[in-house]
Amino acid sequence: MGNRENRDEASNMLVGENVPAKNAIEVKGLVKSYKQLKVLDGIDFAVKQGTVLALLGPNGAGKTTTVHILSTLLLPDSGKALINGLDVVKEDDKVRGMIGLTGQYAALDEYLTGIENLHMIGRLYRLRHQDVKQRTRELLELFDLVEASNRAVKTYSGGMRRRLDLAVSLIASPPVIFLDEPTTGLDPRSRLIMWKIIKQLVSSGTTILLTTQDMDEADHLADRIVVINGGKIIAEGTSDELKQRIGSERLEITVAEASDFDEAKKVVDEDGLHFDVKRRTLSVVTKGGVHQLKQVLSDLDDAGIEVESVSYRSPTLDDVFLTLTGHTTEQSNGETKDPPKG
Ligand SMILES: Nc1ncnc2c1ncn2[C@@H]1O[C@H](COP(=O)(O)OP(=O)(O)OP(=O)(O)O)[C@@H](O)[C@H]1O
Ligand SMILES: [Mg+2]
Repeated sequence: MGNRENRDEASNMLVGENVPAKNAIEVKGLVKSYKQLKVLDGIDFAVKQGTVLALLGPNGAGKTTTVHILSTLLLPDSGKALINGLDVVKEDDKVRGMIGLTGQYAALDEYLTGIENLHMIGRLYRLRHQDVKQRTRELLELFDLVEASNRAVKTYSGGMRRRLDLAVSLIASPPVIFLDEPTTGLDPRSRLIMWKIIKQLVSSGTTILLTTQDMDEADHLADRIVVINGGKIIAEGTSDELKQRIGSERLEITVAEASDFDEAKKVVDEDGLHFDVKRRTLSVVTKGGVHQLKQVLSDLDDAGIEVESVSYRSPTLDDVFLTLTGHTTEQSNGETKDPPKG
């Protein structure tokens, strides 16, 4: 995290011959609708060269749509998007030469081996044969796929496919990479490998835009985070800035009996109370340490309400949405007393 802050600071400073660090990605007023459904409703953001931007948002927020427009797979209705100064609509050919894309769903040839998939894409990019061979070797090693490299992809596990898919998008060493939920469905080890690779890429100057539904992931990887919901940006900033808005650690209480839930809500009547009826949980921002815990438990006990469990937890993506929008990603999952902020 320390490195990231330093880098962010550095990227904002004047570099070289007093030239400000450039934006590798610039998005202005992007709008996209499918019939009546407005999927993107005026999105603006920029990503400085050599940094990571995480586009964070729930299902259907518009993350993949944004990535598809930026990677020239989809035309916007209006607005503008530039990759290293090139317009994704008017100069789409040139843009395609400088980007790599790993989609939300792996795009590999099932019947080819790992090596053959990499070679095929290398040839499509018209790279020199020798370069393709060397880059393939490097990528297989980096992604821990050497042993599986001569097997058809149809024999690969989900995590191996995901890693090969990312390797394929890196064969031409593009300066800008889009990763659409790169770690969804990966086991913890593969997820860490993926994180390490992403960090290596960025430290060598690559600009990355990744989408995720995971606050933790955005926290680990991103210099800046843009939170979108319903096609609009609802928050933007560094992970620390967002966390400050979300609030600190939360004390979460699970009520034993569903029939006691409404009463429990009245008893734990604090500002910033979040609750989830289905899970029978109530949570409040931690402030009074042990004193607050004792107080809440004794209030519930006085009201004759049995508590099943108590825990402390960090803010989750749900808390971000609860705090920022006043409702959960899927409203039926929970509710909040918080008024919408910002
Ligand atoms: N081709 C299409 N036709 C009609 N609606 C579409 C189409 N593609 C996407 N949508 C709608 O646009 C909205 C945004 O979709 P998008 O795939 O960008 O969301 P997302 O943030 O990537 O979600 P997820 O986390 O589920 O991947 C959704 O409501 C989706 O149903
Ligand atoms: Mg998506």
